Amino acid sequence: MSASTATPVTRLADYRAPEFLIEKTHLTFELHEGYTDVSSRLTIVRNPKSTKTNDLALHGEQLELHSLAIDERSLDSGDYQVTPQNLIIHNVPERFVLHCSVRIYPEKNTALEGLYCSSGMYCTQCEAEGFRKITYYLDRPDVMSEFETVIIAREGAFSTMLSNGNCLSDTVHDGKRVVHWHDPFKKPSYLFALVAGNLACLEDHFTTQSGRDVLLQIYTEAKDREKCHFAMQSLKKAMRWDEETYGREYDLDRFMIVAVDDFNMGAMENKGLNIFNTSCVLAHPASTTDAAFQRVEGVIAHEYFHNWSGNRVTCRDWFQLSLKEGLTVYRDSEFSADMNSRAVKRIEDVNLLRSVQFVEDAGPMAHPVRPDSYMEISNFYTVTIYEKGAEVVRMLANILGPKLYRQATDLYFSRFDGQAVTCDDFVQCMEEISGRDLSQFRLWYSQAGTPELHISDHYDADRQQYSLTLRQYVPATPGQAEKKPMHIPVKMALYGNQGTLNLVINGQNKGTEIVLDICQEQQTIVFEQVVEQPMPSLLRSFSAPVRVFYDYQLDQLQKLILLDSDGFCRWDAMQSLMRIVLSKAIDGKGHQAEQMVLIKVLRQLLADYAAMDAALLAYMLDLPNEPYLASLYEKANPVTISRVRTQLQHELATQLQTELLNCYQSLQNSAIGLSAQAMAARSLRNRTLVYLLQIDDARYRGLAQQQFSQAENMTDQFAALRALVHAEHAHTEAQTALQSFYQQWQHESLVVNMWFQVQASRPWGDVLQEVRELLQHEAFDARNPNKLRAVIAAFANQNFTRFHDSSGNAYQFLAEQIAGIDQRNPQIASRLLTPLTHWHRFVDEHACLMRKALESLSQHELSKDVYEVVSKSLNKAH
Ligand code: TRP
Ligand code: ZN
Repeated sequence: MSASTATPVTRLADYRAPEFLIEKTHLTFELHEGYTDVSSRLTIVRNPKSTKTNDLALHGEQLELHSLAIDERSLDSGDYQVTPQNLIIHNVPERFVLHCSVRIYPEKNTALEGLYCSSGMYCTQCEAEGFRKITYYLDRPDVMSEFETVIIAREGAFSTMLSNGNCLSDTVHDGKRVVHWHDPFKKPSYLFALVAGNLACLEDHFTTQSGRDVLLQIYTEAKDREKCHFAMQSLKKAMRWDEETYGREYDLDRFMIVAVDDFNMGAMENKGLNIFNTSCVLAHPASTTDAAFQRVEGVIAHEYFHNWSGNRVTCRDWFQLSLKEGLTVYRDSEFSADMNSRAVKRIEDVNLLRSVQFVEDAGPMAHPVRPDSYMEISNFYTVTIYEKGAEVVRMLANILGPKLYRQATDLYFSRFDGQAVTCDDFVQCMEEISGRDLSQFRLWYSQAGTPELHISDHYDADRQQYSLTLRQYVPATPGQAEKKPMHIPVKMALYGNQGTLNLVINGQNKGTEIVLDICQEQQTIVFEQVVEQPMPSLLRSFSAPVRVFYDYQLDQLQKLILLDSDGFCRWDAMQSLMRIVLSKAIDGKGHQAEQMVLIKVLRQLLADYAAMDAALLAYMLDLPNEPYLASLYEKANPVTISRVRTQLQHELATQLQTELLNCYQSLQNSAIGLSAQAMAARSLRNRTLVYLLQIDDARYRGLAQQQFSQAENMTDQFAALRALVHAEHAHTEAQTALQSFYQQWQHESLVVNMWFQVQASRPWGDVLQEVRELLQHEAFDARNPNKLRAVIAAFANQNFTRFHDSSGNAYQFLAEQIAGIDQRNPQIASRLLTPLTHWHRFVDEHACLMRKALESLSQHELSKDVYEVVSKSLNKAH
């Protein structure tokens, strides 16, 4: 697969403290057209904790070494050795200053890692190991240093020249502009940032809890400046929230955000100088959907929160990545829950976990929240590290309760301020403050796989006792055949005819909701004084990232859907009911009785839609998505799953036409403006529109056309476009709408991405051919990750039906595209590969074709990134 030597594996077990430390880092960047010269002055000392070797091995890749000196003495070729990945300097002293100058070529950097150019501006992306493409360095997070950066460019070349921290001076000498930055906080190299470009700036101020004034700046291209107000408001909310919720104040006098078009991920938390994908900053009602607004708010908060969870306290090594990412995702998700609807945020998170993380956890790339090994760390920025990691922190927060959790995070931030630490250090703070033994809980960090919880119950009317028996099972994952039982907190309640029951265990009244700490492989809980047959409400608010198996009766599900006081559980019960109908149909079994119950309960909810949270009802109308349905099978048939799901959608639309139409029309007036209520109304109304468009009726197409042309916000306009494009009977109307949408928005790159995405995800027709044509479209740009995501990832991840076409042509197409993209941008290529890695979970015809596509990809010369995923996917024995 790779002509180069076998790709080495990095292991947690091999971790050693660094042999040298870098006290001070002084960098000078001279930006020229076509190349950049970087000279560094590093104050290096031997690590007192480790005195092994006299050789200093620095990281460095794709660097052109121009000069090297120790304490002013130039080194000659016998003093050092350059390899493709390292610079090794022999016999260095205890303490010295290393001078080094290298030349790099940012204009030619298509991997978007290190220093690169995006739409005429220079920017950096150093996490995880990109700094080594800028200069020779100890590019590992446990080496923390104080940085000074000088940026030099031709006078007038750039209006904006930024780096981390405070600006010390900004002067002009001999036609050159020289800008000098200093970051007083020690940081690892992955948090370094530099930006130079012609940018406009939106400014604001924030007064911290302790009364300090912080200058807030958001830099973008001038045309986008007015789209930054929402991000600015979100930033201020996040700053306030972190003071109130975690007692965390911002530490520098200035906080900067820069938006760039070409970015591999969502955003990056560089100290004092966050760099964002434009898709996570820019927002304006005319051109941005409600979902995108919420994403901006969430990502702004996420990166800001990293200032404490990640920057002030950072990771010892990349195996500890979830220490900062899991904690920060938990923090941003609680922030979003506080700003918007808590139940809806929980539903969105669980949806992502179930349809993506559970799938990852059952596949060849499955890894623990703290992995044991990797070939390429970029491959481990996964939903497991982020989302499952956040669930693990959430469980800890729930086990401790709000007061102790806050005390424990206070201890964590103060004890480890300025240090690079481990997940275990975090758990230890939780343990010390609570006095609880969390040793079994730690398995959440080391054991991969989604635990299954099989629950059965028994009611003994004579004794007035109700018992729940919980049996846990953790499936085997690559490299982990045997698993130990885990500590699973199960929040639950019991319903009787009059509502929730008091829970009495061992004679003690525990109130109406409790958390069971399930720690054994099998455990039985007995509730006393239960005077009627109760119905359990299990895993309330999704108290642990597990799969629950409990055989609900149809009438029980109906009851939970209509009256559980936990919004998440209402949605979850609806998902269960829909899942029952769908799986019976997929298995070719009679499902009429179940379907009738589903229709009845949906009718009841829709008829009285005004009585409940519109946002929650909107989610309750969604059928479980195809990847989730597929994950319920050992070997899934994607064609059957798609067909059955589409049929049910059509059947529901037909049966519920009157209620759907009535709901659609009545919500018209409440769906105006940007309030939470208006957003909820739009979300529900647009779901009803999608259902109505399942029916071949010109009236409904007319409604969508009308909504499309009269919409005053992007949410409604795009929802109407999507409903038309995705409906099978609206071809002509869809073509007209697509054309007019492009006409209207062709100059807004982010909106053009939505236009690409809606076409690539259309569940019918020869989409593969259309996707090939989109790749040739004037607005497509194969070097821009957002464009690749809008066309190729949308087709592979959001178009289950057409991607899994029985011909297998789409699989082959994806493999070919990845081979090409890998030449330019390995991180993006590797991410695009995910849908093919799950081949072993599909019926043989499909599995075979998917495997074939992987094998054809393996014939190419591959990057480490793609090599790791391809080889692990093909090795999986089944
Ligand atoms: N630390 C970033 C975040 O989650 C993630 C990130 C941004 C990243 N850019 C990257 C990870 C490039 C790997 C490569 O906020
Ligand atoms: Zn992050």
